[in-house]
Amino acid sequence: CGIIGYTGAKDPVAVAVEGLRRLEYRGYDSAGIALADKGGLRTWKKSGKLANLEAALDGREAAEGDVRSAIGHTRWATHGVPSDRNAHPHASQDGRIALIHNGIIENFSQLRSELAAQGTAFASDTDSEVAAQLLAAEYAEDGDLAAAMRRVCKRLEGSFTFLAQAADHPGLIVGARRNSPLVAGIGEGEYFLASDVAAFISHTTEAIELGQDQVVSISPAGLTVTSLDGEEVEGKRYSVDWDITAAEKDGYDTFMMKEIHQQPSVVADTLRGRIDDNGHITLDEVRLSEQDFRDIDKVFIVACGTSYHAGLVTKYALEHWTRLPCEVELASEFRYRDPVLDRSTLVIAISQSGETMDTLMALRHARTQKARVLSISNTVGSTIPRESDAVLYTRAGIEVSVASTKAFLTQLAACYLVALHIAQMRGVMYADEVADVVASLTAMPDKIQEVLDGSDQITELAAQMATSHRVLFIGRHVGYPVALEGALKLKEIAYIEAEGFAAGELKHGPISLIETGTPVIAMVPSPAGRSLLHDKMISNMQEVKARGARLIAIAEEGDDVTAAHADHTIYVPKSPTLLAPLLTTVPLQRLAVEYAGALGNDIDQPRNLAKSVTVE
Ligand code: G6P
Repeated sequence: CGIIGYTGAKDPVAVAVEGLRRLEYRGYDSAGIALADKGGLRTWKKSGKLANLEAALDGREAAEGDVRSAIGHTRWATHGVPSDRNAHPHASQDGRIALIHNGIIENFSQLRSELAAQGTAFASDTDSEVAAQLLAAEYAEDGDLAAAMRRVCKRLEGSFTFLAQAADHPGLIVGARRNSPLVAGIGEGEYFLASDVAAFISHTTEAIELGQDQVVSISPAGLTVTSLDGEEVEGKRYSVDWDITAAEKDGYDTFMMKEIHQQPSVVADTLRGRIDDNGHITLDEVRLSEQDFRDIDKVFIVACGTSYHAGLVTKYALEHWTRLPCEVELASEFRYRDPVLDRSTLVIAISQSGETMDTLMALRHARTQKARVLSISNTVGSTIPRESDAVLYTRAGIEVSVASTKAFLTQLAACYLVALHIAQMRGVMYADEVADVVASLTAMPDKIQEVLDGSDQITELAAQMATSHRVLFIGRHVGYPVALEGALKLKEIAYIEAEGFAAGELKHGPISLIETGTPVIAMVPSPAGRSLLHDKMISNMQEVKARGARLIAIAEEGDDVTAAHADHTIYVPKSPTLLAPLLTTVPLQRLAVEYAGALGNDIDQPRNLAKSVTVE
């Protein structure tokens, strides 16, 4: 879910709506805003996309008076269907409090029964409303909203970010967080609270990180942060270097297309300054010594969704360069199967948002088992990097499209850097190869650009394919995770059955899915060096062709074998095999956009999804 709060001289509703628009990628099942001004509290909420709320706000008279504030919410439904009633903000029974919530309150039914026994009537079934009612009851005690919020938080179990305002105190917003994101923005005589900085960077680039179990109050006069015991704490201040234009489409039809085209520059940004003149790699924040790196005897990578696919690619590179065993695991499965971890295990957590709850919980589990955690994230100051022993930031800038593209490529670049760093720390086995790869990495942004320049042919290809209800992707070695990622993109935005398979595994079952004309996209390995792999892939392509598949190959320039076996071949520039995913993923991203476009789908905000999922 996305959350925004604003207090200051501007029209708070306009600021909140603009913030919600920038946060809409975090969820778009419903949206709502509460305004506090001298007229008291007023709330508008609507199911569906933000545009519905904007229509409801149309004709709203500008709120007058010198102190006013607003809070807004855009929801990704967890409990309860997306409806006007279940949308946030929630009001207390006495109408004095409006509250928005992101997260899950685990002990809500017990609290609800308690309140009901005291005569509280509930307007919805949500756990969030329980928090609103509790806050109103506490606020009635002493009229101190921050103190009331601290008392409420102490009684709650689970995860939450709250923003609340009171009818009799316009201009004041109180926020709180536990296991769920919240940052503060500091302007001149104006303050913001939001799920992430994207919500307010058009107003200010100065931000404050808020820690676990902290309560924050903002009013035009200032900002105060306290612990749950009421002790004042100093939040960590930082400047956001994201460019506001990152939140604009720059002439592209969709954010996804824009972000695909930004890939050469963001991969270059991610590499920049991290390889010194001697070819040595540096991490950003490292609370691990060289000895710690030498002591590692096993690596786990945990992540979700697209980030998980970056992890799968990394396994091939990391095991080869470092000779350390590496397992990649879906973060949501990791802690429930009791993995074998100890002080000499390195856990790499990959998360674009730095807030994904499944990944955060996997990381915490690893730390309780004494494992060291290194994270790769795109969001400075987010929870996952903060709780890690070391971090390397990807520099993708804000990714607005829900289906991840540029974040994925920068994750790959960062993962290569981490694997090479570990190899260097531990003494390199294939010293020459590692030196070569370091040199080749810096040439990759230009090659990504070449792929983009040559990818217009995909539009026509997608138009021809868009009548198929099923598309298969096959690959070997690093081409296998790329196949999974290509299929995920198509599932996410084109809503069709798309599956990625290890090409060698197809004959053991999935080949039965192939009908005459079924599109199969084959990631063909470089014919150089690993020609055995190339030969095997050609055999697998022949197997599917013999069953009537329509075969589209992604092959390396100079490969003069593949085209004879495929209906259509897309070429990408030559690269070291382990780095090829930086190139071969790009045509698949383009394909998904064109395919979903041909079907008329909403590309940036596909149904049922959210970009940042802060529940388990
Ligand atoms: C959500 C998004 C995916 C993303 C995954 C992991 O499900 O829809 O696109 O890959 O979360 O997100 P993270 O921020 O942890 O990389």
